[in-house]
Amino acid sequence: MEDKIKNIENEMLKEVESAKNRDGLEQVRIKYLGRKGLISEILSSLGGMSVEEKRKVGPLANSLKINATAVFQEKARRLEKEKTKEEGIDFTLPGARPEIGRIHPLIKTINEINEIFIGLGFRIVESPEIETEFYNFKALNIPLDHPSRDVFDTFYLDSPEKTRPGSRRLLRSHTSTAQIRIMEKEKPPLQVLSSGRVFRPDAVDASHSFMFHQMEGFMINKNIRFSDLKGVLTQFSREMFGPETKMRFRPHFFPFTEPSVEIDISCIICGGKGCRVCGNKGWLEILGAGMINPKVYETVGYDPKAWSGFAFGMGIERITMLKYGIDDIRLFFENDLRFLRQF
Ligand code: PHE
Repeated sequence: MEDKIKNIENEMLKEVESAKNRDGLEQVRIKYLGRKGLISEILSSLGGMSVEEKRKVGPLANSLKINATAVFQEKARRLEKEKTKEEGIDFTLPGARPEIGRIHPLIKTINEINEIFIGLGFRIVESPEIETEFYNFKALNIPLDHPSRDVFDTFYLDSPEKTRPGSRRLLRSHTSTAQIRIMEKEKPPLQVLSSGRVFRPDAVDASHSFMFHQMEGFMINKNIRFSDLKGVLTQFSREMFGPETKMRFRPHFFPFTEPSVEIDISCIICGGKGCRVCGNKGWLEILGAGMINPKVYETVGYDPKAWSGFAFGMGIERITMLKYGIDDIRLFFENDLRFLRQF
């Protein structure tokens, strides 16, 4: 048996060596390594051998198989090399043009906004998408009985029975979590911008998605006033939407800012006269903002008497849809190249 294996190996090496091309080599490969090939035959005959025989022949047969596989691969590589050498390479042929991707429209908007705020002295940071109730709610002064904490409004990752009350993990429902993450780690003065995905269990339609993007910004220093908020956001809206853009501040409520506002810009389509996009109102709501609530400072250990600041948040999909006249939020997430190639 040992001689037989040795003979098979020698025969095989000769035949491999004399194979002239891929097809020829494949024939030889099938003869030895194919399902009914000579090597496979030996391996399957092991079953009928005595234990002693098996112990001798088994390792030999196995290493023959491993060697054979390597020999065939090596020969195939050599044949391929010879082939290109023979045929030569035609340098005048056009190369394979790499597909060049492009920036997704939402990322384009984020980049554009980032540039504007970097120009105003802001710094870009990242913040996690998986959060806890503490960062998403409690530290932002959102009480335990607030409706947004409901399981219908937030994706929870832990069940309440398995965790201490108020410590469940969740998918963040807004980017205001970044305020706490940064304040916890750093001391003022701060001028920070952070954008990314947020999640809310909304039914998907033309204007709702269970996942969308927000951008959060905040600035904390000595003597920051509401007029600073107004100045920074006015500068932003003029650079982003054009120098003629007007702003309107409406009183609003957010638990983590006090006072709070919702900010509209004059409609970028009709300039304020009223059209389909602004619902004939002449104004478009684009931002939530306010002066950071002293309760937030207390939670992160800042002295509310020493520091003041403002925060704002905006929806990236909404701004992108307004900017390009896109009427369905689902287009951003469907990966339809006919849509994406337009940007
Ligand atoms: N987090 C708020 C939202 O998702 C927006 C906001 C951010 C409001 C910062 C005020 C200050 O609606």
